[in-house]
Amino acid sequence: AEPKPLAGRHVLVTSGPTIEPIDPVRFITNRSSGKQGHAIAAAAARAGARVTLVSGPVAIPDPEGVDVVRVETAAEMLTAVFAALPADAAVMAAAVSDWRPADVASEKIKKAAGHAPPLSFIENPDILATLGHDAQRPKILVGFAAETTDVETNAACKLATKGADYIVANDVSPAGGVFGGDRNSVRVLSSAGVDIWPTLSKDKVAERLISLIAEQLG
Ligand code: C5P
Repeated sequence: AEPKPLAGRHVLVTSGPTIEPIDPVRFITNRSSGKQGHAIAAAAARAGARVTLVSGPVAIPDPEGVDVVRVETAAEMLTAVFAALPADAAVMAAAVSDWRPADVASEKIKKAAGHAPPLSFIENPDILATLGHDAQRPKILVGFAAETTDVETNAACKLATKGADYIVANDVSPAGGVFGGDRNSVRVLSSAGVDIWPTLSKDKVAERLISLIAEQLG
C-alpha cells in the first residue's frame, strides 16, 4: 500500500471556542461549534499523522485517532499548545476570546435591583501570533479568519501580522449559515495569492487543507 501522506508527522490543531469566566457561574465566549477544527484533526489522522487537538468546550464527539486536550480559557489553550510542541504543522481553527474579564470574582456576583455590574476587559494572548513568531514555530502554520465584512482585506492583514503561511478566510455573516452548519465557503490566502474554494462540506474543506499541508511538507 502507498504510505499515508502525513505518516511520521505531528499535526497540532486548535478548535472550538474559549470561555472566559466572569465569576464562578458566568462567562463570556465566542460562537464556535468546533466542527471545522475537529474535521481538520480527523482528516490529519486519516492521512497518517499523529494529531494533538487542543479544544475548548464543544458539544461534538472527539474525532477518532486523535489525542484531545480539553481547555477552557485562552491562557490554558496557549499553555496546552506550547506543551504539545514540536509539531510539523499547526492549524489554529479555535475561536479564541480576544479579551477576558479584567477581574474574575471569586464568589457569584449578586443581583441587586436597579444595578448592573460594569465589566472591563483585558487582552488575551494571541496564540497564533505567539506561535508564528516563536523559535518553535511549526514548518507550516495555518490560521483562520472569521469575518463578517471585508473578508479578504482583514485576512490579508492577519497573514502579514501573525506569521502564518496560510489564512483560511470565511465569511460568517449570519445569512451564510456557516456557524454550526456543515458547509463552508473559504478563501485561502498565502504569499502566492488568494485561492477561492467552492462551497464544500467542512469535511471536504478539511481534506483539501490537509492535502495542501502534506504537499508543502513534502
Ligand atoms: O484576530 P482573529 O481572532 O480574527 O484571528 C483569527 C485567527 O487567530 C484564528 O486562526 C484563531 O484561532 C487565531 N487566534 C488565536 N489567539 C487569539 C485570537 C485568535 O490563536 N487570541
